[in-house]
Amino acid sequence: MVLDTILEKIDSNQNRYIEELLGFLKIPSVSTYSHLAADVRRAAEWVCSHAKRVGLQARLIETKGHPVVHAWRCRQPDQPTLLIYGHYDVQPPEPKEEWHSPPFSPVIRDGYIYARGASDDKGQFFTYLKAIEAILAGAGELPINVKLLVEGEEEIGSPNLGPVLAANADLFKADAIAISDGSQFARGVPAITYGLRGLSYLQIDVRGPRIDLHSGAFGGLVKNPVQALCEILAQLRNPDGTVAIPGFYDQVLELQAWERNELAALPFAEQELTQYLGIADLSGEPDFAPLERKTARPTLDINGIWGGFAGEGAKTVIPAKAGAKVSMRLVPNQRPEQINQLFIDHVRRLAPEGVKVEVRELHGADPVLVRRDQPEVQAAVRAIATGFGTAPVFIREGGSIPIVNLLQETLQLQAILMMGWGNPDDGTHSPNERFRLQDFHHGIRSVAALLYELAKPGA
Ligand code: BES
Ligand code: MN
Ligand code: MN
Repeated sequence: MVLDTILEKIDSNQNRYIEELLGFLKIPSVSTYSHLAADVRRAAEWVCSHAKRVGLQARLIETKGHPVVHAWRCRQPDQPTLLIYGHYDVQPPEPKEEWHSPPFSPVIRDGYIYARGASDDKGQFFTYLKAIEAILAGAGELPINVKLLVEGEEEIGSPNLGPVLAANADLFKADAIAISDGSQFARGVPAITYGLRGLSYLQIDVRGPRIDLHSGAFGGLVKNPVQALCEILAQLRNPDGTVAIPGFYDQVLELQAWERNELAALPFAEQELTQYLGIADLSGEPDFAPLERKTARPTLDINGIWGGFAGEGAKTVIPAKAGAKVSMRLVPNQRPEQINQLFIDHVRRLAPEGVKVEVRELHGADPVLVRRDQPEVQAAVRAIATGFGTAPVFIREGGSIPIVNLLQETLQLQAILMMGWGNPDDGTHSPNERFRLQDFHHGIRSVAALLYELAKPGA
């Protein structure tokens, strides 16, 4: 069978694939840093020229921000079209001193590639280019049509992708979408992700006196902005871990019994996790199991907080301002616009007298659920079984990918195949991010198998 020849080709070309990925990982494409915009563009060009090299047509689509790579090979009019999504941008590498080797000088240690973006998402996305290359080399043509959409703004909430999709809906029209931008359930337990959480991300700014003041000369007269901020933040969640914003849970789709049972049957290793995290116990909403809380329940987190003096020693001061970034992970059927409004109303009510409190919306993403009873999902199950040698489990992920809902709505597409090749301990967004060489390898094999599984027989 032709797939077997292709899989052999993939097996024997591993070292070259790794070498090439290392080159991609050297480009510091941090989308949120404007001073690195030229490097972000260089990463887009790298993807574009690599796509051409493996046999696709490719070009850049300019946006108000970083460019989108559009590539395609559509030579099978009677076969379905797969849209492949990935992102070439990465998160900032900080704190740099925590890295054992520099974030943009990829190295291989103990069966892993270490670099920012190795798992999220350069390494995972690259598997598609390599599988396509192997098929074209081994069979001369792809069994189905493929289109690639690789963006450079995923890590900043995909602010410019909506207009690109709306203006090019025809270009990206497809029968199914494949996304590898998440992880397996655990090492050796590959998974298909049928749910993602959404996101609401806001910033609170508190302003008090015009300037920082001597806390002796003025203490007792003015409301301290850091104190005010703490009072507000302390009332966003209840001590039992639930979110205290009125109406927050109103639209939450409750877990069904079958889903709770299925989640409970997954091999969740709580002790291994607390050890990896370096904490004594997990915490969160009572009445829900850890896996439910991490994927199918909404939550609220303070991401950062600033204000006042935090330098060496002591400075007696009443700060003029303070602020915090707060994000909420949402689940079906919560909507970011609605949740933002509830949050803003709540914070306004909590704002104490004597300070000015402003709330700004930073970005958002809708939660996603994919129906599992679609033939494409079954094709993905078989492909992963071929690629990894183990059938996948079904999971929901706690993270967000803003484009997924956009694609669902703009392209009216329901067959969304989310197949994370990474591992939960890859350290995405953390220091020493890594991608397991074996996962990279199995990912490429799975993609090759997927393209054949999606082909209609006899067409
Ligand atoms: N690849 C992640 C999303 C993800 C994380 C999926 C964990 C599955 C499991 C993606 O690159 C990401 O980091 N998304 C951001 C979205 C935000 C910047 C709008 C997130 O989830 O914080
Ligand atoms: Mn990602
Ligand atoms: Mn990410």
